[in-house]
Amino acid sequence: MEKNTALRDLIINGDAETELKKLPSGSVNCIITSPPYYMQRDYSTNIQIGNEETPEAYIQRLSGVFRECLRVLREDGTLWLNLGDKYQNGELLGMPWRVVFALKEQGWVLRSDIIWHKPNAMPSSVNNRPTTDHEYIFFFSKSKTYYYDIDSVREPHVTFSENSRMKGGRNHFGKVNGTPEQGKNSGNQNLHNGNWDKAFHPLGRNRRTVWEIPLSKFREAHFAVFPEKLVELCLLAGCPENGIVLDPFIGSGTTAVVAQKFGRSYIGIDSNPEYCEMANKRLLQKTLI
Ligand SMILES: C[S@@+](CC[C@H](N)C(=O)[O-])C[C@H]1O[C@@H](n2cnc3c(N)ncnc32)[C@H](O)[C@@H]1O
Repeated sequence: MEKNTALRDLIINGDAETELKKLPSGSVNCIITSPPYYMQRDYSTNIQIGNEETPEAYIQRLSGVFRECLRVLREDGTLWLNLGDKYQNGELLGMPWRVVFALKEQGWVLRSDIIWHKPNAMPSSVNNRPTTDHEYIFFFSKSKTYYYDIDSVREPHVTFSENSRMKGGRNHFGKVNGTPEQGKNSGNQNLHNGNWDKAFHPLGRNRRTVWEIPLSKFREAHFAVFPEKLVELCLLAGCPENGIVLDPFIGSGTTAVVAQKFGRSYIGIDSNPEYCEMANKRLLQKTLI
């Protein structure tokens, strides 16, 4: 990519769709964002998204933003979209998936629906359904082939660990013919002979689609702030070093702060000038949560 310093490391105050229209096509590597959820909060500006009268109107506005995102993204780029749902009159609206279907219509390719499990989610007083403690992160690409750094986000193997149903195998560690001869691993000689480095990837197993990440402790903002760890995983997998990550709903600036920490550039947009100021302040102080 051409190194255009004018379009790197910027926090822009304005409406996401309007400001995206000013950015060149194919100019960012990765998009990580959490738009306002439907009917959830007042972000105190008259251009804010989220308080439309109908779900259809909300989806239409978000579609406008993500159509521009698709244009601004490089061909090998990815989008990581975090969205929560909403109950209306006791009924779950299914908003995240409705937005996903609209994005697929635009040409976005859905690669994974990741569950963000929040171990410290707020307790609720509901007694006729389970308490919700998850949200979605939808992972999209623009094309069939795209940048994805699998090694940067591997997780520990659980086979033979304390959490594994196969933990009896730990006792056989390193013994020739040490593992059971039956079952799904019966043909894997590396397992039997304790050649673990050959049987398992040395950097860990491929990341799974349930991510357990506690809610952020950053309390300055009066809205849901991304946990740094969540952005970190999306960024490392989706944005090469020196690449540019875009967040069209940057809020308190978490995506930009994590980009700065990991040697990536950022472009953030938010309709609320106070949040832009908060983001710039965090970037200056390199505030890690
Ligand atoms: C869920 S918050 C994002 C929080 C962010 N991920 C963080 O870590 O702080 C959504 C943000 O979208 C902004 N917003 C609402 N309508 C917008 C619009 N039309 N254009 C740009 N930003 C908008 C709000 O001001 C709010 O900061």
